[in-house]
Amino acid sequence: MPQLRRVRDLTMTSHLFILPFKIILLLIPLCFVSFAQEGNFTVRYQWANINYTWRSPEEYQNSVQNKSYIPENNAMCGVKVYKDKLFLALPRIRSGTPITLATVSKSDDLITDPLLDPYPSWEMNVGTNCSSIKNIQSMEIDKNGIMWILDGSRYNNVTNCPPKLILLDLNNNGSVVHTYDFPNDICHWEGCFLNDVVIDGDFAYITETSADDPGLIVFSRYENKSWKIRDTTMMPEPDAINFTVNGWPNGKPVPIDGIAISPETDKERIIYYTALTGFNIYGISNTVLKNETLCSGEDWKQHIIHLGKKVGQSDGMVMDKNGTLFYGVLPLNGIATWQKDTPFNTTTLIDQDNSSMHWPDSFGFDEDGYLYVVSNNIHKYFDPNYVTEFNDDIKFRVHIKYTGTTSC
Ligand SMILES: *[C@@H]1O[C@H](CO)[C@@H](O)[C@H](O)[C@H]1NC(C)=O
Ligand SMILES: *[C@@H]1O[C@H](CO)[C@@H](O)[C@H](O)[C@H]1NC(C)=O
Ligand SMILES: *[C@@H]1O[C@H](CO)[C@@H](O)[C@H](O)[C@H]1NC(C)=O
Ligand SMILES: *[C@@H]1O[C@H](CO)[C@@H](O)[C@H](O)[C@H]1NC(C)=O
Ligand SMILES: *[C@@H]1O[C@H](CO)[C@@H](O)[C@H](O)[C@H]1NC(C)=O
Ligand SMILES: *[C@@H]1O[C@H](CO)[C@@H](O)[C@H](O)[C@H]1NC(C)=O
Ligand SMILES: *[C@@H]1O[C@H](CO)[C@@H](O)[C@H](O)[C@H]1NC(C)=O
Ligand SMILES: *[C@@H]1O[C@H](CO)[C@@H](O)[C@H](O)[C@H]1NC(C)=O
Ligand SMILES: *[C@@H]1O[C@H](CO)[C@@H](O)[C@H](O)[C@H]1NC(C)=O
Ligand SMILES: *[C@@H]1O[C@H](CO)[C@@H](O)[C@H](O)[C@H]1NC(C)=O
Ligand SMILES: *[C@@H]1O[C@H](CO)[C@@H](O)[C@H](O)[C@H]1NC(C)=O
Repeated sequence: MPQLRRVRDLTMTSHLFILPFKIILLLIPLCFVSFAQEGNFTVRYQWANINYTWRSPEEYQNSVQNKSYIPENNAMCGVKVYKDKLFLALPRIRSGTPITLATVSKSDDLITDPLLDPYPSWEMNVGTNCSSIKNIQSMEIDKNGIMWILDGSRYNNVTNCPPKLILLDLNNNGSVVHTYDFPNDICHWEGCFLNDVVIDGDFAYITETSADDPGLIVFSRYENKSWKIRDTTMMPEPDAINFTVNGWPNGKPVPIDGIAISPETDKERIIYYTALTGFNIYGISNTVLKNETLCSGEDWKQHIIHLGKKVGQSDGMVMDKNGTLFYGVLPLNGIATWQKDTPFNTTTLIDQDNSSMHWPDSFGFDEDGYLYVVSNNIHKYFDPNYVTEFNDDIKFRVHIKYTGTTSC
């Protein structure tokens, strides 16, 4: 990072004393940057098997015996970071998955098989009534430390409870501050798949990846109401279905999945979206999405922007404050970026690790300029032909990279 070194050299010279105070303040955090990790993503957490901080040895023993905990069936998906914790979504794709949202402390070194701590509590994860959390794929954290959770994976028979959005206050022990049940015509109570979310003030934009009615859902917290748009740009592309990750083929068409939003400093924010089995990426303005009347017709479709083609099929994506989009490139075990306001054909693969980055999925920024990404082999867990095994092979990883930016 040559610029940073130059800044550091500058601090050695007497010029420092004639710099305006504001610039001196800027130099302080930049100096730390030189000691921070640069370059590629490196693995910071890894798991062969996901396990928890059980409330008692008896509960653990009973859960193993009655198969309410089958270690090798637990999988990891969404990652977000707040203060000193990583939040991890644990989708209940298979049986024996007692916990669907958990935390692990931030770590300065590589750590293997850390136990996960159910969040906001064991009770909220294992509760049987519909106020407890059922099946979480992903979440996002807003500026006030409120985590917006998608409890909307209803592609299997884990629950009869309606798909919902739950807002938890991370500064108040994860107490529930808002819940919203999606109506059946927006998110089918059987089959719905709320997959990923971005927040825009009081609005959330959510990708719905179900096979029967995929689309982009807008939720207005102020109105406590949602609406949904559907378009062919959200559908799987047939020539993008067949690819292989870590020796395992993807053979399923998957519609709209990845979503990102441009920085809030933009007058008009763009919401980017792409199908998982798709090469093309699209954008749409938040002024269109926020307008329910406009979204209820067909006219909004003329506002869709076709950005271009990605380096390859991708799952999660994120844009930082600086307008850099990051997305995983599944068949290449890598991460690509694109700088907003440049033609999309400038997109480049910035990192690749064939030995570890198997299905880079969800992204999250911390407040210190690090970007986190989960790689999770998740296509295997969704494939009934894949037989899970309890062994020492690493299946889930969290990789981190210093970017010097934060989420937008
Ligand atoms: C899971 O963690 C508990 C401690 O909470 C430990 O006693 C148990 O052996 C662990 N099981 C596995 C399969 O790692
Ligand atoms: C299995 O055991 C755990 C721990 O005692 C208990 O919470 C759970 O309800 C049991 N599940 C079934 C299906 O019996
Ligand atoms: C529903 O479950 C939650 C979480 O387990 C619990 O706090 C709450 O008291 C339960 N509500 C009812 C009406 O049983
Ligand atoms: C889900 O439940 C329905 C009806 O109860 C049943 O027909 C179906 O086989 C179940 N699916 C799975 C994956 O268990
Ligand atoms: C959160 O929970 C802890 C331990 O249960 C308690 O000591 C603390 O006061 C709680 N904080 C708030 C803000 O409720
Ligand atoms: C929002 O809507 C849900 C129904 O999905 C309802 O239970 C809840 O009370 C509403 N919240 C507010 C603040 O109106
Ligand atoms: C994808 O692979 C399957 C099985 O290998 C094959 O039958 C199918 O024709 C392929 N589809 C495309 C579009 O290549
Ligand atoms: C919403 O869209 C409708 C239809 O295009 C338009 O008439 C109306 O002015 C828009 N509302 C806002 C607040 O922009
Ligand atoms: C990693 O895998 C990709 C896709 O199979 C391949 O194109 C690339 O050459 C591999 N890179 C290395 C360093 O082996
Ligand atoms: C990239 O796109 C720009 C603008 O759309 C175009 O002018 C340029 O020729 C393209 N470059 C390549 C290498 O395709
Ligand atoms: C922010 O983006 C600009 C290009 O728009 C780039 O020159 C700059 O280095 C970026 N800053 C960081 C911290 O990535």
